Amino acid sequence: MNTDFDYSHPRTQVRFGRGRRDETGEVAARHGDDALVVTTRNAMQEAGFLDDVLASLEEADVSATVYDDADPNPTVANVVDCVETAPDAEIVVALGGGSPTDVAKAAALSLAVFDEPPSIEDVWTYASGEKRPEEATPLVALPSTSGTGSHVDPWAVVTRADERAKVGFGGDALVPHDAIVDAEILDEMPADLAARTGFDAFCHLNEAYVARGSDALTDANALRGMELVSRNLRRSVEGSSEAREKMAVADTLAGFCEATSGTVATHALAHAISAYEPDVAHGDALASVAAEVAAYNVENGDDETKRRYGEIAETLGFPVADRKLDAPFVVDTFREFVAEFDLDASVGDLTDATPEELAENAAEHMRLVLRNNPVEVEEDDLVGIFEDAY
Ligand SMILES: [Fe+2]
Repeated sequence: MNTDFDYSHPRTQVRFGRGRRDETGEVAARHGDDALVVTTRNAMQEAGFLDDVLASLEEADVSATVYDDADPNPTVANVVDCVETAPDAEIVVALGGGSPTDVAKAAALSLAVFDEPPSIEDVWTYASGEKRPEEATPLVALPSTSGTGSHVDPWAVVTRADERAKVGFGGDALVPHDAIVDAEILDEMPADLAARTGFDAFCHLNEAYVARGSDALTDANALRGMELVSRNLRRSVEGSSEAREKMAVADTLAGFCEATSGTVATHALAHAISAYEPDVAHGDALASVAAEVAAYNVENGDDETKRRYGEIAETLGFPVADRKLDAPFVVDTFREFVAEFDLDASVGDLTDATPEELAENAAEHMRLVLRNNPVEVEEDDLVGIFEDAY
């Protein structure tokens, strides 16, 4: 355990509780009276949650403009369109899953740093890592899934189709000011979405736990988060409201882990798949490579890495006698886990891109994440992992 670290307490005020979406107006009004609401095209409207949020804003005398046109893997073009919808917004409200939340974060950044609505190239200077976000318009996040941790983490993920790049970027400026975790919204998730997004949360937790960037606080949040996923994901997928509340806690702990530690090669490889196949869900892409990345890391990792993977297998219920020696069983545990939730598509099922093409894409666009992997991983190694997962 790394007990030599820096830590800033997250600035997000998180409100957990059923029906608390009605507090959106009160929260937003602290930051301004002109809101840009970024949401999912159909789901949030049909369930009436968008109307609830808009009514809450109106009650607090906050005017609202709605943007609901983000792609499932949101693009930089979506961000540009979103900002053009409300170029004078003083606050951004994200209501939905990872897609609208990522667009909302990039829009909040753009509203703060550009005087005019930005071009794709302007936004890309930040998304590509050339410039670091230092400020953003205040953001309130109301998650509709429990998977991204984005409501409390500093990251946004966007795709640039013409560059075939799906990248994560961010910094403290992109941590939402407020998060409202309303389990009534989470109750509306279809079963397959609960499974996919739950697996994303699980990856954030297990990757953060083995990452080079992990520290003592990551360990506490990741272990408790994985335990919650292990005990509740099945029942969450079956529709249990109580299990969904617990998955929301796991997702929030995962978001904290994203802030203190971050992801490893699993996410780097998954993003390369999405860069080629923008319609593939993030959770499916993760599930197609998770076991093979774990196998590579266990095989090539040091004793501490092995011990940690053994502990992850133990958290998932595998009868571990010796964490270091039993670490290879984490691979079977992951395979069983993804099969249990019908997430066992292979890389070749998801894309026609070759292992070489995918490895090159990951090596080019996910350098920082790959550097956070507990084991050094070169492009040739990535080819091998993709071949195993194909
Ligand atoms: Fe993720």
